[in-house]
Amino acid sequence: MPDTYAVIGNPIAHSKSPLIHTEFSKQTRQDICYETILAPLNGFAAVIEVFQQSGGKGMNVTVPFKVDAYKISTQLTEQATAAQAVNTLVFDGDEIYGDNTDGTGLIRDIVVNLGFTITTKRVLLCGAGGAARGIVLPLLKQEPRMLAISNRTVQKAHKLRQQFSSYKNVISGNYADIAGKEFDLIINATSASLIGKPLSLPLGTFATESLAYDIMYGNRHTPFLQFARQEGATHLSDGVGMLVEQAAESFFIWRGVRPETKLLIEMLSQNN
Ligand code: ATR
Repeated sequence: MPDTYAVIGNPIAHSKSPLIHTEFSKQTRQDICYETILAPLNGFAAVIEVFQQSGGKGMNVTVPFKVDAYKISTQLTEQATAAQAVNTLVFDGDEIYGDNTDGTGLIRDIVVNLGFTITTKRVLLCGAGGAARGIVLPLLKQEPRMLAISNRTVQKAHKLRQQFSSYKNVISGNYADIAGKEFDLIINATSASLIGKPLSLPLGTFATESLAYDIMYGNRHTPFLQFARQEGATHLSDGVGMLVEQAAESFFIWRGVRPETKLLIEMLSQNN
């Protein structure tokens, strides 16, 4: 019998995770079965219990259940604790291990796939919601020269910075507060692209040779990326690489084997 894994969310039909993990399992010859589970909005814990009791080995968790997954985990990694959100679960007896591979996936895409060094760079993280929270610690571990966290609601940016107060190179504010500063790496971790809205970034934010990265996947022409292009950002990326890399990291946690990601990223990029 193959080991069973699943992605859980609501909605879930659009998820690329089954395709990605099926490709990974073929490529690495791992005998696994990967399902899609639509959980009711108020029924996450009950669905997990049934899956766990039927012998399920692990899960990917997506919107809107990442905080619920954090709460039901009996053990958490450093990344999951920092993010206060879990996207990868491992079931082992009564234990539920919660991890968060979103930030690691993003960093791997930027550093390994795109060949962009974060160390000593000036980094702007736009957003202070769930997605941004998962990115801060992995970014800081790359030792950027400075990290600015900007958010429409400024209090949320300050709160997120305070969580990392032991790092002295982090500043926070709203978008107007960064006027006059330029950045080498600008990451859009807001949900504005999902609704086709631009961010109110000041002119002059994008340095020469800068990389603009929108974590939303499936659209290389979001208002954020269009603005970045107009403003002279040299490198533009949507979140396809991050999507595949966070999945590869989950697969590695479950199976101890690291799948190749390049061809899959190319294939998924062609479709958008
Ligand atoms: P997620 O888990 O996707 O991060 P979230 O926790 O609801 O979702 O956070 C959404 C983020 O996108 C927030 O940083 C939000 O800014 P606010 O805190 O000010 O609400 C940001 N966001 C959403 N729509 C936006 C818009 N039109 N312009 C700027 N920021 C936006």
